Amino acid sequence: MPAPDGRIRVGIIGSGAIAQIIHLPALRQLRHLFEVTALCDLSADTMAFVSETFGVAHGAHFTDYRDLCASDLVDAVLVCPLGTHVPQAIEALRHGKHVLVEKPLSSRLDEADAFVAASEEARAKAGTVTLMAYMKRFDPGYQYAQRIVRPLADQGEIRFVEAHHIHSRNERYMDYFPVYRATDIPASARDAARAEHEANLLRALGPTPDRQVAAAFGGMMGSSIHDVYALSGLLGRPVAISNAEVWDDGHCWRAMFEYPNGARVNYAWIDIRDVRRFQQEFIAYGPDVRVHLTMAMPFIAGDASTVRVQRMEPSPVDPAPYGRHDGAAHPGDAKPGVVSPDGEGWPTAGTAHVESFVTAGYDNQFKREWQHFHACITRGTEPLVGAREARDDTAFIIEWARVSRGV
Ligand SMILES: NC(=O)c1ccc[n+]([C@@H]2O[C@H](COP(=O)([O-])OP(=O)(O)OC[C@H]3O[C@@H](n4cnc5c(N)ncnc54)[C@H](O)[C@@H]3O)[C@@H](O)[C@H]2O)c1
Repeated sequence: MPAPDGRIRVGIIGSGAIAQIIHLPALRQLRHLFEVTALCDLSADTMAFVSETFGVAHGAHFTDYRDLCASDLVDAVLVCPLGTHVPQAIEALRHGKHVLVEKPLSSRLDEADAFVAASEEARAKAGTVTLMAYMKRFDPGYQYAQRIVRPLADQGEIRFVEAHHIHSRNERYMDYFPVYRATDIPASARDAARAEHEANLLRALGPTPDRQVAAAFGGMMGSSIHDVYALSGLLGRPVAISNAEVWDDGHCWRAMFEYPNGARVNYAWIDIRDVRRFQQEFIAYGPDVRVHLTMAMPFIAGDASTVRVQRMEPSPVDPAPYGRHDGAAHPGDAKPGVVSPDGEGWPTAGTAHVESFVTAGYDNQFKREWQHFHACITRGTEPLVGAREARDDTAFIIEWARVSRGV
């Protein structure tokens, strides 16, 4: 039941960096659509800071996510604590709340399966919405590139994609934002989170994982997930993984991925430490087009993704007054396609190579994700990214880590 003014009432589980830098400012911009009515965090100090800073002074505060999920104060729940997001999402769905779930969903396949079942059941019973917060899929530049690349990929016309993600330390992105860092989280909660991560690692990779792959696993799940879902939006679900390796003590990894209809992706994720220049690019090569997508810097509102599209212009036919340049034989031509008014033959310059540099929009990807979530809830729009895709991404990344070798 939305608020009397029709706004969707949102509860947030995990009030840390992503909530403070991204989601709460986006929700403030969209305050005609949403109202934040409840927070949940292990840290009471963090919730107090967030309430004051983002004007949610009247919101309820919970330290146990189950209480937030059961609360009559919320219609929808944003799930963004550290670690798995599945128990919180399932609990919210069980109480009929719509869920927006941050990446990564979980590093456990059994949890991901349970999430799909809960999501589908809640959808069938009450029309409850599950949306994955895969924000790059909502980015205007990404969507522009996708409109060109995806139909070509579906027709088997994308042969190759170069994809790389050059990542600076997280602190380099966070430096500019006044994120409140809690000191009141019980040590037992931190220990439990660490133990959960260790257990999940062994569950995913087996009892004696390669040292470098184990070190990379969190980054593959937490950061390469952005590339995995971006690529599947461009090319469809990946069908094979080869030449997967991890090096530099788990700071770098690369692989070759195969997609339906023969597309191959050369992928690399590189930790460039302190060079504060994030670089995430996808270059797709088709038979007569090259599409080069450069994603915006994360967290910097107003930085736009850009797309360079390179093609050959269609041949001009009979461009007066110098004759045809279409390469075809025409009666009376001295040489096929090379003709001048005096019949001597005119050297053709060929067709032109043209490049367009596109900024599809400055609208923020996270804000668009929330607007889409609102449309899913209020207008029945089909969620762009649901539980099943997140489950398949979990399975893919586990498989990828398993076939990777440390070098
Ligand atoms: N989409 C993106 O680009 C993006 C960027 C950063 C983080 N994230 C995701 O958001 C999530 C949070 O990341 P962050 O950087 O905000 O981390 P963070 O450590 O800054 O914040 C996490 C918050 O969750 C709270 N928390 C932890 N366990 C909890 C629990 N069981 N119940 C309630 N609260 C709990 C912590 O106290 C902390 O305040 C992660 O899953 C991360 O992958 C997404």
